[in-house]
Amino acid sequence: MERLGTETAFSVLAKAKALEAEGREIIHLEIGEPDFDTPAHIVEAACRALRDGHTNYTPTAGIPELREAIAENVARSRGLKVSPEQVVVTPGGKPIMFFAILALVDEGDEVLLPNPAFPIYESMVNFIGGKPVFVPLRQENGFRFDPDEFEANLGDKTRLVILNSPANPTGGVLTADDMAALAAILREHPEIYVLSDEIYARLLYEADFASIASEEGLGPDAGTIILDGFSKTYAMTGWRLGYGVMPSDLAEEVAKLQVNSNSCTSAATQHAGLAALQGPQDAVNTMLAEFRARRDQIVSGLNELPGVECITPQGAFYAFPRIADTGYSADDLADLLLEEAGVACLSGTAFGRHGEGHLRLSYANSRENISRALDRMNELLSWIGD
Ligand SMILES: Cc1ncc(COP(=O)(O)O)c(C=O)c1O
Repeated sequence: MERLGTETAFSVLAKAKALEAEGREIIHLEIGEPDFDTPAHIVEAACRALRDGHTNYTPTAGIPELREAIAENVARSRGLKVSPEQVVVTPGGKPIMFFAILALVDEGDEVLLPNPAFPIYESMVNFIGGKPVFVPLRQENGFRFDPDEFEANLGDKTRLVILNSPANPTGGVLTADDMAALAAILREHPEIYVLSDEIYARLLYEADFASIASEEGLGPDAGTIILDGFSKTYAMTGWRLGYGVMPSDLAEEVAKLQVNSNSCTSAATQHAGLAALQGPQDAVNTMLAEFRARRDQIVSGLNELPGVECITPQGAFYAFPRIADTGYSADDLADLLLEEAGVACLSGTAFGRHGEGHLRLSYANSRENISRALDRMNELLSWIGD
């Protein structure tokens, strides 16, 4: 258990809530969840499912109509062939990380992953005795992999490569050219599995979405596991609904892990997911337009602050400014911001050692609150700079 890590966003949220209980007013830029309501037709589909008696266990890998809809959706959006047998529906996208790493990685196996990155990848690899091998993401490069560095870290022991684009915590995006370059390298290693975390695929501001799974020889039929879900796209974090698309033999193993842990995903939630995929998509576009406005607001505001430099994130809803020139470590500055300024955000080190010198701010909050947070940060940084 000592090897198991955690997600700091949840601990900072708890700390911020404790301060609120003491009467402090905190602006929440720490947790990665859309502040919008789930679109009404999705909520209604779940209520209808419950009223219609969908209150039982479902097949472990998900109800057939949802697996089919996901297979069609993933096939269309990524230009792939996907069959419903390759789809496993889970309570959130996160269990796909947990199950895929558990199913594939043995003690001593190496797993290549970005750093900074979503902390659960490293936590899970360490937990089962695998060895995380980090490929640094740097601001100078738009937080994209350097293909040479990526290739240099692959070896005989590499079992799995984890990709995440658009990325948490940086908002960085791998372009179609990046994917082609990585694919050319990975095709030389057909024994290596790829876990492609595409949970932010619909939250993209500039380029079209590029998936490694669209590259020849790297689809879910070969050895790529696509992780996606409903939390971020449809503002459904609390519903717990996600999925993986993978080779069908691995899907059977992952379903076996699911039957051993949580049996299946809630029936009504799965009906909501079906409505999300098959219903109108205008709410997704409205949310994206609002996120874009907030992104522009927070990036320009951050760049006005003393000692802070922020590049424009291309996807997701996180800004990852460099704060090294403030003279504070990322941990100390995040603590000061929470305790002195009432702004909750995360230290870059919550995402690995290459996150030092950065903060992560989630701009899934109102423009008014973002503006107030920027004012408070300005006041604090001007004060500590004096
Ligand atoms: C990169 C990344 N992957 C996966 C997830 C998991 O999302 P969920 O389990 O809510 O679907 C998150 C959530 O923050 C994330 O940031």
